[in-house]
Amino acid sequence: MARQKWGSRWAFVLAAIGSAAGLGNAWRFPYMAYSNGGGAFYIPYFVALFIAGIPILMAEFGVGQGFQASAPKAMRKISKGAEFIGWWAVITGAIITFYYNVIMAWIFNYLYHSLGVAWKNDPKGFFFGDFLKLTDGPGQLGGLRWPIVIGLFIAWLWVYLILRKGTESVGKTVMWTVPLPIILLLILGIRGITLPGAATGLNFLFEPNFAKLADPRVWANAFGQIFFSLSVAFGVMIAYGSYNDKKNDIANNTIITALGNSATSFLAGIAVFSVLGYMAQQTNVPVDEVVSGGVGLAFVVYPQAISLIPGGPIVQSIIGLAFFVMLLTLGIDSAFSLVEAAEAAAGDKFKINMKSFLIGFSIVGFIFGLIFATQGGLYWLDIIDHFMGTYALLVVGILESIVIGWIFGAKKLRDYINSVSEIKIGSWFDISLKYVIPIVLIFILALNIADEIKNPYGGYPGWSLAIGFLVFILVPILAVIFAKIPSKDEKYDVVEKEITFEEE
Ligand code: PFF
Repeated sequence: MARQKWGSRWAFVLAAIGSAAGLGNAWRFPYMAYSNGGGAFYIPYFVALFIAGIPILMAEFGVGQGFQASAPKAMRKISKGAEFIGWWAVITGAIITFYYNVIMAWIFNYLYHSLGVAWKNDPKGFFFGDFLKLTDGPGQLGGLRWPIVIGLFIAWLWVYLILRKGTESVGKTVMWTVPLPIILLLILGIRGITLPGAATGLNFLFEPNFAKLADPRVWANAFGQIFFSLSVAFGVMIAYGSYNDKKNDIANNTIITALGNSATSFLAGIAVFSVLGYMAQQTNVPVDEVVSGGVGLAFVVYPQAISLIPGGPIVQSIIGLAFFVMLLTLGIDSAFSLVEAAEAAAGDKFKINMKSFLIGFSIVGFIFGLIFATQGGLYWLDIIDHFMGTYALLVVGILESIVIGWIFGAKKLRDYINSVSEIKIGSWFDISLKYVIPIVLIFILALNIADEIKNPYGGYPGWSLAIGFLVFILVPILAVIFAKIPSKDEKYDVVEKEITFEEE
């Protein structure tokens, strides 16, 4: 069977931007920038983007497109022993979808709660109390939260419908789910900066604190943000690249994707911080006491700000709707991209029928997701995310750059990229892939482990972190098993020394 292809170059580029631009842009980037030196953060941020982010993204597009293969198969083509790294990537991504879709479920609920601004009097109590009915710790799961279960069902159904016809249905979806959140961010940003006090908020985001640049953690955070944000190391960009024609321009696609992603982050930063400035002024609390990132920003702080915006409940409901539709459409492309990476991997190796895989995966994803839809679910979401989004990302990133940079050869890959791209890439690509990326990621990993030992994550009980660690360790074991199962495709095992254009 011929490999499916993107309907147009734009379908591919939009899908890639859609995966990259997700909740991380809206709720992680603004907080990262603020807490790591404000305006000064953009120095490590852009350094990280150009010396590591763009090269690794280009490498992922390159191997996916060049080998016409998902992550495990592409790794296998480079070296038999490397296949498990691809599985490690996609299984980690699969686990991420289990809780990512629970966040999507919260957003569905908040869409509903926007009508009438349900959180108005006490946004914090509403989120943790009325909505999550959060227990005292990970040891108490409590009961299922049915509104979240329903939202979770809708989220999986949506993912299924989008992926059902592969690149064809994805291509149609991203034509609107990618531009829409950007337009909504623009509208929210304009409403934000025209509110009194907005400038104070924006100062926090842009005023440079150069002293911070001496702190290695700021640099580590910049690299971490770039890697997470570009959706690398979970097999997504390899799978997306594999649906391109072998002759597609890789350098150009990479640069458009990377810059589109960063632009979304900046827009989100402006939309969020302008409103925080306004809220600080209204409540007479300094901006640095109202800011937060992550779940707290999206479900407590920003909703609180909405309830202070002038114009009455109707205007506030509309802004609430705009905000949560923005999050929903921003997040959905990231969620389904992870499922697509797993699907591509399973399809390449086991020749599984796409639809059956999707139905099975959605059901399994829904069932596992129920853990996070309990009253104690937020704790587990946080713990599992810590191990997947931080440690698995780093380890896979290190292994992947070594396999591509050293075993296949950065130069060989660059020659292929240059043979199809308008812009020619210089030898900095090789240096980045072979030295900069692995060394920097090993350094960040070491920093994280040192921190973890001193200060276990989130103050959770040791046994619960041990479970998170266990999940982290189980993934590579599963990955090795998957790699050992013989493939249904006899061509799967053929190692390729070069990327050629023969079979086109
Ligand atoms: N890049 C997404 C974000 O910044 O929100 C998150 C993500 C999606 C990471 C898909 C990795 C991935 F494969």
